Amino acid sequence: MSMNTIRFVLNGNIVETEVADPTRTVLQFLRDDLRMTGTKEGCAEGDCGACTVVVVEVDRRGGGVELKTINSCIQFLPTLDGKELLTVEGLHGKDGGLHPVQQAMVDQHGSQCGFCTPGFVMSLYALYRTNPDPSRQEIDDALAGNLCRCTGYRPIIAAARSMYDASDDWDAQQHLDVLHEVQRQGDLELEVGRRRFFAPRGVAAFAALYAKHPDATILAGGTDIGLWVTKQHRELETVIYTGRVEELLELHTADSHLEIGGAVSIAAAAAAIVEQYPGLDELFRRFASPPIRNAGTLGGNVANGSPIGDSMPALMVLGASLVLRRGEKEREVGLDDFYHDYQVNDLQPGEFVARIRVPRARAGVRVASHKWSKRFDQDISAVCTAYSLELDGDTVARFRMACGGMAATVRHAERCEAAVNGAHWSEATIDRACAALAEDFTPISDMRASADIRLVAVQNLLRRFWLESRGEVDETVYTYGR
Ligand SMILES: Cc1cc2nc3c(=O)[nH]c(=O)nc-3n(C[C@H](O)[C@H](O)[C@H](O)COP(=O)(O)OP(=O)(O)OC[C@H]3O[C@@H](n4cnc5c(N)ncnc54)[C@H](O)[C@@H]3O)c2cc1C
Ligand code: FES
Ligand code: FES
Repeated sequence: MSMNTIRFVLNGNIVETEVADPTRTVLQFLRDDLRMTGTKEGCAEGDCGACTVVVVEVDRRGGGVELKTINSCIQFLPTLDGKELLTVEGLHGKDGGLHPVQQAMVDQHGSQCGFCTPGFVMSLYALYRTNPDPSRQEIDDALAGNLCRCTGYRPIIAAARSMYDASDDWDAQQHLDVLHEVQRQGDLELEVGRRRFFAPRGVAAFAALYAKHPDATILAGGTDIGLWVTKQHRELETVIYTGRVEELLELHTADSHLEIGGAVSIAAAAAAIVEQYPGLDELFRRFASPPIRNAGTLGGNVANGSPIGDSMPALMVLGASLVLRRGEKEREVGLDDFYHDYQVNDLQPGEFVARIRVPRARAGVRVASHKWSKRFDQDISAVCTAYSLELDGDTVARFRMACGGMAATVRHAERCEAAVNGAHWSEATIDRACAALAEDFTPISDMRASADIRLVAVQNLLRRFWLESRGEVDETVYTYGR
């Protein structure tokens, strides 16, 4: 095997391929190099789901296999090393004909022009494999990253319900065996001309590499970085990938907090956070789509630091902190102090987010978040709010509120917090808090919302939180399948 070769499994067969461009996407490799054109390209930015494929990996916790959907249009090819890729061409039923998912799509008339169909089939296949009896909401959530512009969703949802009528011949052990065959023991290093791709296995090697190459791009899930390449046509010279670093992939629950490795996926981090704080369930269900949450990481969301990033308002009101590492040195910084200005944060050259510490839930503290965007699913927030509230009788012992979409960075609503802390938890206090919000923020107008609407929305969302705390409105803003 030459130095620039990666190995992975494609629909059951081991593939060895020489990487000529470390930022070539999985979709380009499938369609242009292998002429496997079942997987489609719609948007090339993770939005439409036409390119959805399934990645199978050795489950780090249980030792079995783990399946997840990803968007192949923004995933770089070298990230597949040591994994299995399933595409629509690899699906088949027991008799070699259509897979039960595909047959259900045919039977329920789930396809018209067919452009979106392979992507829907792969999302449904992942659901079929991982959830034997999904609710309507779970079906809708599983399909949140797939758009269909002509059939409409009713027949596709009917297919999701009837696909379980037939079984297939999946053999998890077979997939595990072949995955073990392609596992790489050491670090992956690719060098093509001036372009380098490093995928170390240990955090010490990762830290040493980044300290040596502080201008390198840290690649995590690539759900932001993928677009730098597909949309902005940026050339990345040196890339260091977090996705194989054992310590960064760890998530554990300590006595006082959750310790979430810098490369833990949003899906896995959200499950642990929502277990502590059920009031954040809807926020994370509405964070992008399952393929983006499977690939994207919480560390990437925090480090990217978009003013409309969804995890940060919640992490701020929870009092989260970041463990930053450079070489062998670590330091801890509160998330409240991490952002200095638009796209300026506290990270020093060669320093990275090693872990995110999220305090565990305490009895008597109410935590919630509201995401306000034009669509329910798969949309970026116009504004996003989060609150934590601790009452002593009718008096507010501690109130925190943080907002995204209202300033150059996500930040606390300090004047609003001051108006509420120590006051009665009453409508009059909320009126004063809403007035204070107008002093806290001077939002901008853009394609997502005007400045005026942003402010009114945040004020109304705070009122909503007050009503929710009194049991006067349903805490689930949207109900599926009415
Ligand atoms: C279709 C679509 C929908 C989206 N919807 C949402 C949404 O609803 N809400 C939302 O908040 N975001 C959304 N995003 C943005 C994106 O998914 C998130 O920001 C995601 O968390 C980024 O994580 P990643 O692992 O993919 O980061 P990457 O793209 O790999 O990296 C992002 C940035 O973080 C840096 N970085 C990554 N890991 C580290 C680390 N450990 N230490 C230091 N720097 C690091 C990278 O160098 C890069 O600058 C969406 C993106 C797409 C394409
Ligand atoms: S092509 Fe649209 S999500 Fe990938
Ligand atoms: S069948 Fe045409 S877009 Fe879905």
